[in-house]
Amino acid sequence: MLCRLIYSSTIVPPFDFEDLRDILAASERNNPPQEITGVLVTTATQFLQVMEGPSDNVNELYRKLQRDSRHERLRLIEYTTGVQRLFDGWAMRGVHRGLMSDELTGFLTRKYGGDTAGGLVLPDNAFLATSLLFDVAHADLIGG
Ligand SMILES: Cc1cc2nc3c(=O)[nH]c(=O)nc-3n(C[C@H](O)[C@H](O)[C@H](O)COP(=O)(O)O)c2cc1C
Repeated sequence: MLCRLIYSSTIVPPFDFEDLRDILAASERNNPPQEITGVLVTTATQFLQVMEGPSDNVNELYRKLQRDSRHERLRLIEYTTGVQRLFDGWAMRGVHRGLMSDELTGFLTRKYGGDTAGGLVLPDNAFLATSLLFDVAHADLIGG
């Protein structure tokens, strides 16, 4: 049974490009054999991640992520089974806020909310979180 899991978590600093590269390298190694695809977005303080795949594999990955000390306070936003894959094409598409164009950041903050410094504030509503992740997954289509 295919499932989609979305969660957000709080980044444990320091966390830089190098750390994201390590996570994406692990994802490229581990996710394809598990038929897991997804997107991982970072803001200044948080991660938002979606993963899709066979539910046993996704559940196992989520349990593993709960033990990763690079983040804490994981909050489950959505868990749905029997879904069609919305996030295919990437073992895990990582989007670091530092690599987002101003145009994309502006587009996302206007649509989903921003802080006074112009940074993206992540929605914890399941529909909005899915929509944001979908926008980011297709960012090349909206000028990102
Ligand atoms: C926010 C976040 C997202 C992660 N996403 C994945 C992932 O999609 N796939 C994965 O294999 N590891 C992911 N990791 C890393 C795992 O927690 C773990 O370090 C890694 O899978 C270990 O890889 P290894 O067993 O090949 O050494 C993530 C870590 C963090 C902090």
